[in-house]
Amino acid sequence: MPSPSDELNELDELADLDRRHLIHPITEFRIHEVKGPRIVTGGEGIRIELADGRSMIDGFSGLFNINVGHGRREIGEAVAVQMQKLAYYPSFWDFSSEPAIRLAERLARLMPEGSELDHFLFTTGGSDANETNFRLARLYHAVRGETSRQKILSRRSGFHGITRAAGSATAIPAYHVFAEPDPLHLNTAAPYCHRCEFGKTPDACALECAEDIETVIAREGAESIAALIAEPILGTGGIVLPPAGYFERLQAICREHGILFILDEVITGFGRTGEWFGMQKFGLQPDLLSLAKGISSGYAPLGAVALRRGVYETIRDDSPRGLPFMGGLTYNNHPTSCAAALANLDIIENEGLVENARTVGDYLLERLHECFGAKALVSEIRGLGMLAAIECTEPGTLDPIDGRPMSFPAAVAKAAFERGLICRALWENVALAPPLCTTREEIDEIVTILAESFEVAERRRESR
Ligand SMILES: Cc1ncc(COP(=O)(O)O)c(C=O)c1O
Repeated sequence: MPSPSDELNELDELADLDRRHLIHPITEFRIHEVKGPRIVTGGEGIRIELADGRSMIDGFSGLFNINVGHGRREIGEAVAVQMQKLAYYPSFWDFSSEPAIRLAERLARLMPEGSELDHFLFTTGGSDANETNFRLARLYHAVRGETSRQKILSRRSGFHGITRAAGSATAIPAYHVFAEPDPLHLNTAAPYCHRCEFGKTPDACALECAEDIETVIAREGAESIAALIAEPILGTGGIVLPPAGYFERLQAICREHGILFILDEVITGFGRTGEWFGMQKFGLQPDLLSLAKGISSGYAPLGAVALRRGVYETIRDDSPRGLPFMGGLTYNNHPTSCAAALANLDIIENEGLVENARTVGDYLLERLHECFGAKALVSEIRGLGMLAAIECTEPGTLDPIDGRPMSFPAAVAKAAFERGLICRALWENVALAPPLCTTREEIDEIVTILAESFEVAERRRESR
């Protein structure tokens, strides 16, 4: 039996090895070498365990992705069975595997009635799902003779990943430091009412943010634009819900100009909004769809693209003979990841987690309004399903508190961490995205910790 001091030594050694050899995303190398890692050793339900013995509520589902919560043995078992049978074989050419076939058929049944999204390619995550959709959108136009349609539009505050093309579609300036976006990517307005780019209030809104795409089209020429990509709810951009009628207008403009509509449901898919897909909530009819995160709840890396039948058939029928679809990553349609996804979908279905996200999500929003609605430093509270944000600004303005971007939300998140809750600072927002299996009692626990943490951050600020 290792003694407690052996375990401590091992932990110190691990932390030291991490500092010396492991690179962490969104981390400043020099600070990490001093602070070292927070090693996560286990997880059960909505909680994770840290190596120092602390149990934390995972109020952000990892990165918006652990929809069914931690420690789901069913998924582990499905993965082990598949790995022992066939861990991996490529799906290039005509090779296939049962989990990929079953998952594609199951997703075709899960897609909203009338969506005609019925062909799937599985990717390793969200960025490559978007990259693949850009390639497919351009291919669709090219085989119809419109090779000039190369540009991709995305909205300011949109996040679509970090690889070259997906990263270029991401329209958040912080992600472009030392990395200019690809010039084929152009931006249009964000539907961020609280920070309306056009200075409008909801009562005077004429959906200028949707109309803005017409300005971009007039400037660039519709014949140069392949697709527009959009998230149903801006996720990393700050959990921002669109105004009524926005997507209707956006889709109509795209249709009118022959621009394909790529819907990025990497966060909103698989129950997070209280519907299986965000497109059901907002009446969306994408030509191409990107999925990831909740598709496997993070138990194995996986994403997907889905094509509307008409898009698929055009590529099938109009491609020159002898020209295959020249996309393809080694791990497309990965059998083990697809097996994880099938077991994950069983849990979402059998435990009614979509319904739970809806009702418990409503409760979360109600509790946030109750606890934070009257705070001077809170300018807006937003959310849908298991997604919520408290926007914190200088009273009466949209400015960062004390003129220091992100510092107040980060102070709240830090105080919450000290009290056993993981939430995130997203720009000027404190953001939550708990697993879909979270109960009302657990929401009470989350909100209690958050309220205390908010007060701690307020006091720390006053005493500075
Ligand atoms: C909406 C959206 N699209 C795409 C991505 C990229 O996904 P991945 O990190 O799996 O590449 C993310 C990641 O957070 C996302 O939130």
